[in-house]
Amino acid sequence: MKDLIRDNIKNLIPYSCARDEFSGVAEVYLDANENYYDYSGKGYNRYPDPHCMELREQIQNKMGLPTINTVIGNGSDELIDNLIRIFCEPNKDSILIMPPTYGAYKVFSDINAVEVKSLLLKEDFLIDLEEFKKFSIINKEDGNSCKLAFICSPNNPTGESQDISVIEDMAKSFGGMLIIDEAYAEFSDKVSATSLINKYPNIVVLKTFSKCYGLAGARVGIMVSSSELCSVMNSVKAPYNVGFPSQRAALDLLKKHDEIIRERDEVVIRRDEYFTKFLTLEIVEKVYKSDANFLLMKTKDSNKICSILQSKGIIIRNRNKVIHCENCVRITIGSKSECERVYKEMSEIVL
Ligand SMILES: Cc1ncc(COP(=O)(O)O)c(C=O)c1O
Repeated sequence: MKDLIRDNIKNLIPYSCARDEFSGVAEVYLDANENYYDYSGKGYNRYPDPHCMELREQIQNKMGLPTINTVIGNGSDELIDNLIRIFCEPNKDSILIMPPTYGAYKVFSDINAVEVKSLLLKEDFLIDLEEFKKFSIINKEDGNSCKLAFICSPNNPTGESQDISVIEDMAKSFGGMLIIDEAYAEFSDKVSATSLINKYPNIVVLKTFSKCYGLAGARVGIMVSSSELCSVMNSVKAPYNVGFPSQRAALDLLKKHDEIIRERDEVVIRRDEYFTKFLTLEIVEKVYKSDANFLLMKTKDSNKICSILQSKGIIIRNRNKVIHCENCVRITIGSKSECERVYKEMSEIVL
């Protein structure tokens, strides 16, 4: 892993913030140029814990992810951006993505002037493992090698997830870092790739509080990786990247474990129920099996469907321009009444 890190990052002397140098409890804090006056009455006048220690301890207790293997990001998007910056030299290195997939991998690479290579998913949305091997750093000579490969599982927008055995095979054959984005994993029965991080130092898993945990507005993501990479991520991320209210919100949420599981189970049941219902619609040609909290479906005319629904105040995601997703729409599994409303409106559309 160390060999893959950019030299400037290896040699970085990280910014040391006031709260890095003192982490106990004191009576007077005059070390960080904060305002002594707490207008909010909630302690927002103080900088937050840069290491999100209390949150990571609760993540260890509730999710079984050891504190030494986690870093909290300002959403997993921040972690994606930082991973590219840690490993990829602008205008030199490249990453591998497997479209159709989450669009941010390419956007962050473009911003960082890092080349993006694509390995299209097969028609069944699974990975072509033989083709994947061609992008390994182990095959450096052919100029195809990539420093990072992003695997989104369950995948956005398809909903398909990859088996842990496939991910393990990929980690063995790929000389670069394999980033498994598990933003939707709580909605799936598949084994999490976090079970592999101690065995394969080139595996990094990203998780988020934005989906199953219902905290998209708070911006809290988790990187799970070797402790060595966690140290590097800590030195690259903005020191106070996750605000105090967001850390608090995530901590409060972890106390609601039973409620979260109950709602998650409801979403999964509803997803499978609407999988069958949407299939009966005249305007829907195919609904893809999903391990996430959304359904992708091929329709007769996604542009028209989206604009008709929009005129009725319903927003779904048109994926028409995404490769392999011509005329597809992605519909999030909302509440019972939201799902019923979109289903009913779609059943009345005549194309
Ligand atoms: C696959 C995937 N990864 C990451 C994210 C971003 O998550 P966060 O809100 O934690 O930045 C999304 C958001 O939709 C996503 O679909």
